[in-house]
Amino acid sequence: MEVVKTIAELRRLRASLPEPLGFVPTMGYLHEGHLSLVRQARADNASVAVSIFVNPTQFAPNDDLDRYPRDLDGDLSLLEKEGVDIVFAPSVDEMYPPRFDSRVEVDKLTRRLEGASRPGHFAGVTTVVAKLFNIVQPTRAYFGQKDAQQAIVIKKMVADMNMNLEVITLPTVRQPDGLAMSSRNSYLSADERQAALVIYRSLMLAQGLWFNGEKDAEKLRNEMARLIGKEPLATIDYISIADNDTLEELKEVQTPALVSLAVKIGETRLIDNVVLGVRFIIS
Ligand code: PAJ
Repeated sequence: MEVVKTIAELRRLRASLPEPLGFVPTMGYLHEGHLSLVRQARADNASVAVSIFVNPTQFAPNDDLDRYPRDLDGDLSLLEKEGVDIVFAPSVDEMYPPRFDSRVEVDKLTRRLEGASRPGHFAGVTTVVAKLFNIVQPTRAYFGQKDAQQAIVIKKMVADMNMNLEVITLPTVRQPDGLAMSSRNSYLSADERQAALVIYRSLMLAQGLWFNGEKDAEKLRNEMARLIGKEPLATIDYISIADNDTLEELKEVQTPALVSLAVKIGETRLIDNVVLGVRFIIS
């Protein structure tokens, strides 16, 4: 496994790797969710590249950029075991030299959900992912359903901008008790870790009610809010039941519907989702 820090080195090495190449962009502090993407990339492709870059432009000024967890050595040893060919771990300056002055942005899709709560977030994500795609030139890129809107937005960018690669979305990897794996789970105290379970429980509640015939989306949102309201450490940012393509809020559940939410547990903001009406949407 080669670890490179510059775009020039990455390009030189990339040219010698066999096609097709699978690519997994990450911000590091890797867990089983990330590794599930790496394993699928390994299974589908002759070569695998992973990037590790905590992208400052997708964090708001008061966000958790400075305390975002990092462990490059730990990450590299996990990736080595997965048979990754190249790890690209650039500096902020390498990705954004002093007079960097461009932005790639998806419009309407990013005004909703995470985009409404975190203005500018998705412009940061699409700009860095567009750069990474141009640098790595992957055949396929792998994203997690955990960040459902991110995967939808990236697919839209790739389609609209005619980028020559396939974007693949893979299921959310969870802890045995249902909590979605996230680098940000490391912020949680033991009490908060327990309280965070209400997120998955609220999703299962909505799924169960829908399965038993409830089609009124507002009723489902209200039931989720009522359950989360009972958890003193939890504060709801949003609860959404939306069309899985347009992300428009639904009055009546039509499938596939994306049930998603953002909840603060103490000071830690967590997101999760399930899709109603399909076991899982692969791409
Ligand atoms: P990061 O949060 O490190 O996530 C990297 C990839 O891992 C994303 O596609 C994310 O959806 C996926 N992932 C995270 N937790 C997961 C889980 N529990 N199950 C399955 N997949 C999971 O998302 C980003 O980084 C950044 O925004 C990035 C795309 C790298 C751009 O900076």
